Amino acid sequence: MKNILITGGAGFIGSAVVRDFVKRYPQAQLVTLDRLTYAGNPQNLGEATAADNHQLVVGDICDFENNLKLFKTYDFDTVVHLAAESHVDRSIKDPFAFAQTNVMGTLSLLEAAKRHWNGNFEGKKFYHISTDEVYGTLGDSGLFTEQTPYDPHSPYSASKASSDHFVRAYHDTYGLPVVLSNCSNNYGPYQYPEKLIPVCIQKIVQQQPIPVYGQGINVRDWLYVEDHVAAIATILEQGKLGETYNIGGHNEWKNIDLIHVIIKHTDQLLGRSQGSSLELISFVEDRLGHDLRYAIDASKIEKELGWTPAHNFDQGIQKTVGWYLENQAWIDSLK
Ligand SMILES: NC(=O)c1ccc[n+]([C@@H]2O[C@H](COP(=O)([O-])OP(=O)(O)OC[C@H]3O[C@@H](n4cnc5c(N)ncnc54)[C@H](O)[C@@H]3O)[C@@H](O)[C@H]2O)c1
Repeated sequence: MKNILITGGAGFIGSAVVRDFVKRYPQAQLVTLDRLTYAGNPQNLGEATAADNHQLVVGDICDFENNLKLFKTYDFDTVVHLAAESHVDRSIKDPFAFAQTNVMGTLSLLEAAKRHWNGNFEGKKFYHISTDEVYGTLGDSGLFTEQTPYDPHSPYSASKASSDHFVRAYHDTYGLPVVLSNCSNNYGPYQYPEKLIPVCIQKIVQQQPIPVYGQGINVRDWLYVEDHVAAIATILEQGKLGETYNIGGHNEWKNIDLIHVIIKHTDQLLGRSQGSSLELISFVEDRLGHDLRYAIDASKIEKELGWTPAHNFDQGIQKTVGWYLENQAWIDSLK
């Protein structure tokens, strides 16, 4: 890997990838392409901002001519594609933005890579990052495997599913050297405070009601963002072309139980009496089309590529709560 394009590198997971990759691949030149939507923030790049082997290019992945120009300028051999509209609630309000960026943007990058590489696929890789939400919902038992049929229910997951299909179609039709992964919910520093964990921490800090959808019984499988980054590097280095890898933490939590854990750690770190913020829990009308349970079978990546999560949940969540409490200035800067 000499020249790596990272799309969405100013977002939550993308910036964790960039901060890691500038050190992990010092010999490679990294370019972050990011439109800097509300979710993208150059501050998230941290030390990578000053790194010699990284630069941020502000641009829209839907701009095909610009994508072609960037491929020509930087001669990318590797693409790590994370740019997306990523918040389910926003997708319910404005599905068009999700189809535009997640589907058309992905297509525009695939076509730019195909034209630039022009059949010379030796040493090239287009890595598309996706979500477990494409698989739909599980009942009380079972896990999503790479063979689980797609059954998306929200405009977000439908747009991600569609982008996954385009990526596979470019492999099957044109031989584009692609690899995909579908990951469970991530948590950690720099996650935009509209997602469950940072929202919950902020509400506790401000002593405001913590909104919980429905009865709080929806289950998600949580993975610390640095473990996702390690999985992404593993797949980039060893993943077989044309394959998909599921990534997950073996770490299922009902939303309401997760909120109890966050309350415990946040109250503790703020020096408040144990459980004092439990009274902030406020059940609200359920999200439309809310999937009941997601859970990942990650045995393929574990057995074939040797990746396993390094963080246990207790460490990861304590680190995360601590980071948000110490970085109120970052949160304030988003307002
Ligand atoms: N957050 C999770 O729990 C999770 C889990 C599995 C998979 N994923 C996937 O990982 C990827 C990153 O997710 P995230 O949580 O970091 O998202 P995020 O919303 O925090 O960041 C998305 C980034 O993409 C950029 N972006 C959006 N539209 C763009 C466009 N048209 N052109 C260029 N840049 C654009 C934004 O500015 C932002 O920097 C997404 O593809 C998402 O589907 C996320």
